Amino acid sequence: MITLESSFLSTCKKFKLAQSEIEEVYEFVLHQKMPDAYMLQPNFEVSIQRQELIFSLCRLAQEGPPLAYVIGKKNFYGYDFHCCPGVLIPRFDTEVLVERAIKEIKNHNFKTIIDLGCGSGCVGLTIALESKASTVLGVDISSQAIALTNKNKMSLNVGHYQTLVADMRDMPELTGSFDLIVSNPPYIAKSDDRVDLSVSLYEPHLALYGEQEGLEFYQTIAQYGLRALTKAGSILVEFSPFISQQVVSTFQKLGYHCVEVIKDLQQHERVGHFRLK
Ligand SMILES: C[S@@+](CC[C@H](N)C(=O)[O-])C[C@H]1O[C@@H](n2cnc3c(N)ncnc32)[C@H](O)[C@@H]1O
Repeated sequence: MITLESSFLSTCKKFKLAQSEIEEVYEFVLHQKMPDAYMLQPNFEVSIQRQELIFSLCRLAQEGPPLAYVIGKKNFYGYDFHCCPGVLIPRFDTEVLVERAIKEIKNHNFKTIIDLGCGSGCVGLTIALESKASTVLGVDISSQAIALTNKNKMSLNVGHYQTLVADMRDMPELTGSFDLIVSNPPYIAKSDDRVDLSVSLYEPHLALYGEQEGLEFYQTIAQYGLRALTKAGSILVEFSPFISQQVVSTFQKLGYHCVEVIKDLQQHERVGHFRLK
């Protein structure tokens, strides 16, 4: 046995991982909230077997796939989401999109929400959890993503959420209307060489890259909104700050009013809010 304090310090020294990632490994192995456990119970003891497990998980994450794939989960908006290779890992930046969606739903009493390209389900499921009155539909072209969303729906105990495997570019079967369309679509241009190696090597390209310099899916979503958005409804889309202005003009050309471009915590333009004029 060693104390949590010396265990944690030696792990931080041994591995070139962010402290937050090492904390996630400790939480996973010890079922203790970090850094509370470290701060409040520094004499908490870690068994040799658990220390070895911590080292091997850190080694795996340092040498290969992202930590969320190694431990199979990622926290998003305070909820634990299952993760698996083949489906995008939820990103902290996407919380900006979710936060605004929840606010819009509450302010306008929106009832029907669609999440295009739902991936792990982190956006739509969080919205469903935080605004209990709404019904949410998650759509993804990847059946692997939909299976993961359904798994997360079960583990988070979300009732009012449905899923559909479909290509958002062609959804004739979807005839209903929605008060809110949310999406974090694939938006990286194929020519963009700024993508981290750990992302391009391990995360699904289907979730990352969009045609037309990353603008393809904004055109799709704006077109879909023309037939599916209720009169006073809203569209909220996440984008990269590199294409924010092109996304705004894509929506404006199709007759939308840009209500706001919302910045993330780093002050990067991250989310567009649109309504039909
Ligand atoms: C950037 S990921 C976002 C996933 C999730 N919403 C999130 O924020 O973590 C984009 C998602 O769009 C899905 N996707 C890609 N092409 C699609 C298409 N043509 N129709 C529907 N979904 C698509 C991908 O499978 C992926 O899950």
